Amino acid sequence: MSFHVITQAPARLNRSELAVPGSAPQMFEKAAASEADVIFLDLEDAVAPDDKAQARKNVIRALNEIDWGKKTMSVRINGLDTHYMYRDVVDVVEQAGERLDLIMIPKVGTAADVYAVDMLVTQIEDAKGYRKRIGFEHIIETALGMQNVSAIAAASKRNESLHFGVADYAASTRARTTNIGGVNPDYAVLTDRLEDGSRAVHWGDMWHYALARLVVAARANGLRPLDGPFGDFNDPEGYRAAAKRAAVLGCEGKWAIHPSQIALANEVMSPSEAEVTRAKRILEAMEKAAAEGKGAVSLDGRLIDYASIRQAEVLVQKARQIAG
Ligand code: GLV
Ligand code: MG
Repeated sequence: MSFHVITQAPARLNRSELAVPGSAPQMFEKAAASEADVIFLDLEDAVAPDDKAQARKNVIRALNEIDWGKKTMSVRINGLDTHYMYRDVVDVVEQAGERLDLIMIPKVGTAADVYAVDMLVTQIEDAKGYRKRIGFEHIIETALGMQNVSAIAAASKRNESLHFGVADYAASTRARTTNIGGVNPDYAVLTDRLEDGSRAVHWGDMWHYALARLVVAARANGLRPLDGPFGDFNDPEGYRAAAKRAAVLGCEGKWAIHPSQIALANEVMSPSEAEVTRAKRILEAMEKAAAEGKGAVSLDGRLIDYASIRQAEVLVQKARQIAG
């Protein structure tokens, strides 16, 4: 291990993160009763310009008056390039800061963006005498944000998570798609000619690099990496496949832009019983190996060693966290 110690963000369950428009208060109670681990009340892209002020009021009221139980509550503020943003922060933190766990910052581009919001939130918290510190979640969804993702991840002690905002990322990088997430048949390779002269097409995942880059920056700074939206809420199979790819890369959760996606995210982002059982067997086998003075042994015909302990512990700790 490096001599550099990575401080981990507070351990929160973040398998599913439900997006709820701040302009749709009729959805709030249902969201509060859902199985989502985290809810973000949106003041940004799901809210039309004319509704911004009312949405802000709805969100403040909802944070103060609705029983959200043990859910982690977040508010997505508007971007730093808009004039809505300062009032989002000032009004929401001043008037509902005690029930707010996280602020989600969209389209964050540089470490200085994080610094600016940190400064503002710190002043408000101090003025109000809040004892709890509000954490930050950042959506990496522009070319600039992806270029600076490591600096952004390290920019504040409030940072808790990085989210891949695939829709805005596609727009910012001018990717040729109008879908929100998912695969694209044009991102494919052709095999060499098969025996019958035909060629098979293998679709690729055009988001692989971006998501993998984000996971590395998040983990190197002790933050949770999360995959963002999957727009086609009538395609649970497609959602599950995207969530599985993200989970395999190291993501802890995925957004739900529709209530039907919450259960899918919770399921995919929880280690299966088989995975946990195997992880426990690895830990037992390594304990036995250590007692016999061995560093590496074989389990079910495969080599395991000290790195296997660290891998297995990740799964066992996650299962423990889910069990509560
Ligand atoms: C999320 O905000 C996205 O742009 O995908
Ligand atoms: Mg976006």
